Amino acid sequence: MKLCIFAASLLLAGTSVAWAAVNEPIKPVAVAKVANPALVELGKKLFFDPRLSKSGFISCNSCHNLSMGGTDNIKTSIGHNWNEGPINAPTVLNSSLNLAQFWDGRAKDLQAQAGGPIANPGEMGFTHALAVDVLQSIPGYVADFKKAFGKDKVTIEEVTKAIAAFEETLVTPNSRFDKWLKGDKKALAPNELAGYQLFKDSGCVACHNGAAVGGNSFQKMGVVEAYKASSPAEGRISVTGKDADRFNFKVPTLRNVEMTYPYFHDGAANTLKEAVETMGRIQLGKKFTDDENSKVVAFLKTLTGDQPNFKLPILPPSSDSTPRPQPFAKK
Ligand code: HEC
Ligand code: HEC
Repeated sequence: MKLCIFAASLLLAGTSVAWAAVNEPIKPVAVAKVANPALVELGKKLFFDPRLSKSGFISCNSCHNLSMGGTDNIKTSIGHNWNEGPINAPTVLNSSLNLAQFWDGRAKDLQAQAGGPIANPGEMGFTHALAVDVLQSIPGYVADFKKAFGKDKVTIEEVTKAIAAFEETLVTPNSRFDKWLKGDKKALAPNELAGYQLFKDSGCVACHNGAAVGGNSFQKMGVVEAYKASSPAEGRISVTGKDADRFNFKVPTLRNVEMTYPYFHDGAANTLKEAVETMGRIQLGKKFTDDENSKVVAFLKTLTGDQPNFKLPILPPSSDSTPRPQPFAKK
């Protein structure tokens, strides 16, 4: 009889764990599945290769540094000719979970996004044709493209496809919060759990939910109170042309948010404390006490997952015929 009650309560506890995970508005990040390892390896090299820029100095990793949460940790990015960009660089970590790419969602997916920075005069300052010429002139790359795509001719579609395949591997599973979601009740400290409760009860989860804790909708920045941005960006309206979309931005992921400072599309908030204060005030009309704010921040820090972990790619050397970098060429 005693054993029976014990078994029943175990069963109940078991059910309640499963129940909790199913009903939480945030889902664990799944481990990436790699379908084509040669394609991912090629994409990794391209992500780190500054020869895709006019200066020969700027790679994707310059602004999406995988040692720093996939960001540059500066207010707005610095591109070709020390050009100061208009907007904060979002993280590439978990970007495969986004409904679209860029703050205004103007690229439908990672492949569509990846061509943008190469040809953007303020970022890598190159052209697609010249980037392809450079790669085609490097025997090591020609061999890699052959391995991944089965032909000798390099195209920009293949370049962007390989980069996207690599980016799809940049997910960050196994955060402490995900361990908790999966039933490890000891994974979170009481103040972190209290922060999660505040995050849910205050209404943050209305916009920050799902596996990425964001990334799945466009929302107004400044629902209750207008936000004075230091960037000229107007958000989603630049894609749809609809007035209702003015100042709607893609809700950023909060995965690894401890590492991806400064915050907001204009990079105006330096600390999580400030970002949480601003969000509460302008999105929800809520003023957190210092104690509540620190609990929400403690919760947000539990969203840091496994960071990319691989051998640094060694890039194939240029050949005698490879076009040379132009570090000081204007535009
Ligand atoms: C000079 C800095 C810079 C370089 C170089 C750069 N990016 Fe970005 N990246 C940015 C900025 C800034 C944004 C946001 C632009 C916007 O939303 O209008 C961005 C956005 C993105 C996004 C969208 C993320 C999201 O959540 O919307 C992805 C993915 C991305 N970049 C990948 C890349 C790849 C791949 C490369 C190399 C081919 C690259 N970036 C090169 C600065 C840079
Ligand atoms: C109405 C939707 C909405 C609600 C509610 C909301 N957010 Fe946000 N959140 C956004 C949007 C949109 C952005 C990006 C805005 C921008 O940069 O222009 C954002 C950005 C953030 C950022 C900065 C992330 C980064 O990488 O720049 C943090 C942190 C954040 N929110 C936390 C919270 C917290 C905590 C709450 C609850 C107090 C909350 N949010 C409530 C929509 C929302």
